[in-house]
Amino acid sequence: MRVLVVGSGGREHAVIRKLKENKDIEQIICAPGNGGIAADAECVNIKATDVIGMADYATSNDIDFVVVTPDDPLALGMVDAIEARGIPCFGPLKNAAVIEASKVFSKNLMKKYGIPTAAYEVFDDAGKALAYILERNQYPAVIKADGLALGKGVLIAQNEEEAREAVKELMVDHSFGTAGNRVVVEDFMTGPEVSVLAFTDGKVICPMVSSMDHKRANDNDEGLNTGGMGTIAPSPFYTEAVAGRCMKEIFEPTVAAMNAEGRTFRGCLYFGLMITPDGPKVVEYNCRFGDPETQVVLPLLKTDLFTIMQACHDGTLGDLNIEWRDQACACVIEASGGYPQSYAKGYEIHGLDENGQHEGVTVYHAGTKLEDGKYLTNGGRVLGITALGNNLNEALDKAYAAVKEIGFRDMHYRTDIGGKLRNL
Ligand code: GLY
Repeated sequence: MRVLVVGSGGREHAVIRKLKENKDIEQIICAPGNGGIAADAECVNIKATDVIGMADYATSNDIDFVVVTPDDPLALGMVDAIEARGIPCFGPLKNAAVIEASKVFSKNLMKKYGIPTAAYEVFDDAGKALAYILERNQYPAVIKADGLALGKGVLIAQNEEEAREAVKELMVDHSFGTAGNRVVVEDFMTGPEVSVLAFTDGKVICPMVSSMDHKRANDNDEGLNTGGMGTIAPSPFYTEAVAGRCMKEIFEPTVAAMNAEGRTFRGCLYFGLMITPDGPKVVEYNCRFGDPETQVVLPLLKTDLFTIMQACHDGTLGDLNIEWRDQACACVIEASGGYPQSYAKGYEIHGLDENGQHEGVTVYHAGTKLEDGKYLTNGGRVLGITALGNNLNEALDKAYAAVKEIGFRDMHYRTDIGGKLRNL
């Protein structure tokens, strides 16, 4: 089998390292990949959003299966285009990827099918959105861009001034382009946040182990929102009782709702959840593996990933018994100084061997390139230093010990990933 993985980040590296465990796969190709992924897959220089270029490549290079990982190509219909050429894919069709691509769609879906989420209103006019927020006078107010905005389209206003600024940024200045043409204004929810990724073939849904992201750039959840600065799995907040409620009240109803809408979802459905005092509620859906959640979830998977992906495509997921290691996993992101704003690239990374790895941990490459045998920084999030342990403390200690030995100029990382959970 020749498998093509679309994407270029730490998440794709984690997927590829797991796929490598399958003995039927002769070759993994990654488009476009990065310097570290090149040690595990052949990288080809096709943009992840180049739908036709990717379908052409898959057709003319005897690709047997394609894993489309990032949100943009899924929203653009890459799975539709490749499957139209007769090549099976892991990932939803465009009409199902809308569950992430439009916040208005997903909120309306939840309202229609009684899936718990924060109360909300939708606006396509900046004046009306602001008038509603000011009239309501309840802070924090959550203002979300309807469309894809690199994970940065959710603004939380603590007061009237911030609300004015948020509406201006999204709807007047169009900082996220057309993504902010419509916004959702919703109630602020409180409680621990948990990410649950789930495999689904559109008939059954199999949640993976839970995880927890750390979105803010700095310790104590301060600073700007990022793509994610580190993760742990499993989350101690996701108890068996919570999991049972989520399955009954959220996961199965979402699969059924998508089927009822004629938008059957196959692939990885990501539930961003908040465990509120009133029970678990959906913060957001994503139509794909999370990044960096995948980096801590897949190392805990015992069952073969490729077999699961094929079953999701074939509609046979119900025949599998998916098993997980009874361990914990932690991932600390090493980022370029300045990220998520502007940052320099091209600094040499020390502490890696010739395969871009480091003894005792797994190093997932997010933004690196390989030049003259040296790994150089080439993105905002650069590396995900990831360790397994028999418990969370052990995993965190191993990851942080390696963080001290791997680095580059102006490196920034959070020192408190999983910190609040250490002794729970
Ligand atoms: N870690 C959040 C996301 O993947 O969207």
